[in-house]
Amino acid sequence: MYKIAVIPGDGTGPEVTAEALKVLKTVADKFGFKYESTEFDFGGERYKRTGETLPESALEELRGFNAILLGAIGHPDVAPGILEKGILLKARFELDQYINLRPVRLYPGVDTPLKDKGPDEIDYCVVRENTGDQYTGAGGFTLKGTPDEVAVQTAVYNRFQVDRCLRYAFEYTRRYGKKARNKGEHNTLALVGKTNVLTYVYDLWERAFHEMGEKEYPDVKREYYHVDATCMWMVKNPELFDVLVTGNMFGDIITDLGAITQGGMGLAAGGNINPDGVSMFEPIGGSAPKYTGKGVINPLAAICATSMMLETLGEQDAATAIEDTVRFLTANKLKSMDAGRMGYSTSEVGDLVAQHVADQ
Ligand code: IPM
Ligand code: MN
Repeated sequence: MYKIAVIPGDGTGPEVTAEALKVLKTVADKFGFKYESTEFDFGGERYKRTGETLPESALEELRGFNAILLGAIGHPDVAPGILEKGILLKARFELDQYINLRPVRLYPGVDTPLKDKGPDEIDYCVVRENTGDQYTGAGGFTLKGTPDEVAVQTAVYNRFQVDRCLRYAFEYTRRYGKKARNKGEHNTLALVGKTNVLTYVYDLWERAFHEMGEKEYPDVKREYYHVDATCMWMVKNPELFDVLVTGNMFGDIITDLGAITQGGMGLAAGGNINPDGVSMFEPIGGSAPKYTGKGVINPLAAICATSMMLETLGEQDAATAIEDTVRFLTANKLKSMDAGRMGYSTSEVGDLVAQHVADQ
């Protein structure tokens, strides 16, 4: 019996989460596992009502679940940063979800802005470190509000954080790299950094990367790219990549670029993973206030997040069934992945997935 915490959140979050839960119910019936879902109302509305973001008691409660499914966080009436830091980042940090796993995969039939590239070329995964870097909040102001004001916000990493992230990335590459999937000659892990300028932080990453790779993962091919060049290759030759590993800030930036090459936020899913604790899965798009309540938002990213959740829980067959169904629908049914242009409403897309999974 899996205990799933559900945080629908703000904007279109509840709409896409409802479709994800519809699909979860269908695969549970079909593949014979049991779960119990508990909904939490964290988000902008609750904050406006009570001033609370993610209280300590809730964190304690969340630790008792097997996984968390999140819709979206972000409310037009709440100043930027409050909900993001107070809910999303707080959960990532406090639950020590030190990996942010973001596949960049173009599904068949989906338009990409990349010329002459298809599903064979756009098929890689970013392992983003999820607890360090500029995200720790180390820094501050001096002389704030004066002409001499100084602001500092520092990238922070220790060896422990770097090593545990690299270990996850090497293991992931060994298991899901292109060779493991019969799609290439090697399983290749590339470190994305900026060793020519960030000569402390990415020097640490690079030394740790090669030490661990040489000693423990000689079967995994190692590469290194500067982050700026990575952006260029992600557009020009995405087929170069297999698994990429990088710090929190670069990972944040390059995964938005990756998402748009896989057909936009309607399809991009990610997992905030604590391999020894409770992980949280989310569509990586925002709360899309302008589409809220219209029934036009694409729920496939939330549905793909559910598939990632099931994979992490060990329900591989259910996860694969969802993934295959999404591929079938993008190839054969949906006209576009964009909100309002799918040819179906949000709940019709959820119905299509559920129906197809059940019929398989
Ligand atoms: C993401 C988002 C968050 C981040 C924001 C909302 C804090 O952009 O999940 O990529 O920067 O990590
Ligand atoms: Mn981001």
